[in-house]
Parts: sequence; structure tokens; C-alpha cells
Amino acid sequence: MTDQKATNITWHEGHVDRKDRNALLKQQGLTMWFTGLSASGKSTIAFTLEHALVEHGHLSYVLDGDNIRHGLNKNLGFSPEDRNENIRRIGEVAKLFADAGAITLTSFISPYRADRDQARKIHADAGLRFVEVFVKASVELCEERDPKGLYKKARAGEIPEFTGISAPYEEPLKAEFVIDSGKLSPQEAAAELIAYLEKEGFIKPS
Ligand code: ADX
Repeated sequence: MTDQKATNITWHEGHVDRKDRNALLKQQGLTMWFTGLSASGKSTIAFTLEHALVEHGHLSYVLDGDNIRHGLNKNLGFSPEDRNENIRRIGEVAKLFADAGAITLTSFISPYRADRDQARKIHADAGLRFVEVFVKASVELCEERDPKGLYKKARAGEIPEFTGISAPYEEPLKAEFVIDSGKLSPQEAAAELIAYLEKEGFIKPS
């Protein structure tokens, strides 16, 4: 838990509530939290899903690890402490996006169970749904794909603390979805997730 540093701050309630925003957007905001190894396919599935949702008239937005590390989280590396702070910030940002009404998709390795559980908790405390999507692919498969050449570098000792090689990945124990990216295409995975969003009433069937 991060301690509150500022004192003398007061919560200011707005005049528009979540219901008003959901009515405006004709959908209900939530966070779908993609977790898995580098090259497991998280971002490919998340961006495919975002595209399909927007094409069907829904507001969706991907918060992507590599992208966020170019801006908001550019001061963070890959030590356990920095990954914890990375995920803490994104848990908070995703909560705000979901509260704003967006179908919010986060794509971060997020290797520590406790960090993911904390992101889940802050959503639950705010009355927002959090759906964990474990994109499952073995280290061997990810290493074979290696689209950015990072596994090769990590094996050569050029990247310290590389997830799956020299840093841990704690698999989810209670993910709402487990997607085997060796079996399902990104389009098939996205279709499965859209069916869930429709069934649960987050979006209207098109
Ligand atoms: S997380 O562990 O803190 O959740 P995040 O998803 O933001 O990681 O960033 C992972 C991405 O950073 C990987 O997809 C890869 O492109 C890059 N990367 C660079 N160094 C590392 C490393 N040591 N471990 C894992 N990924 C790394």
C-alpha cells in the first residue's frame, strides 16, 4: 500500500455521476486486465478487441505497458519495486477510465499476484468491475516468437530481471478468462471477450 503524503486535501464531489456517463455512452465502463509474459499476445488481443469495439460504436481504450512506459511511467524500470509502482499507477488510471465509462483494456505483464489483486481491490472498492484475462503462453513459445528480440538478449545476459528468464511471473489463480494464445487467434479471443461483455450487459449486442 502506498501511504498518503499530502495533507489538507478534501474530496470534491462532481455534479455528474457514473450513471449519467454510462447513459451518455450507452455502455458500462469496466476494466479488462490482460496479464501474461512478454510476447504472450496480450497487446495484440487488446488492440484487436479495442478496434472491434470502436467499430461497433463503443468507447474502448488500451493502456499498454510499452506505451505507458514512454510517458506516464518513463521513470520506472523493471525492479520488483518499480513494477509494483507501474501496476499501482495503472490500476488507478484504469479505475478512472472505467469510471469515465470506457471499456478499459490494460496490457501489462503485471507479474506479481499481489499487485494485480490490489488493482482488483481498488476497482471493487469503487463499485467497478475488474475482469482478469490471463493470456497464457509458455516461455518456450514466447521465446520462439520473440518479436522484439528481447528473449535472445535476456539469454545472452544483456537484459537483467527479464520476466520468465531471470525474473518471476506468478500465474493468476482466479482469472475470469484464460486465453491460450497458441490455440486462439487474436480475432477469436476478441470475439469471446465481446460475447462476455454483451452477456454481462456492459455493451448492447450489435
Ligand atoms: S511490468 O512487469 O511492469 O508489468 P510492462 O508490461 O510494463 O512490465 O512492460 C513490459 C515490456 O517491457 C515488455 O513487453 C518488453 O517489451 C519490455 N521489457 C524491457 N525490459 C524488460 C524486462 N526486464 N522484463 C520484462 N519486460 C521488459
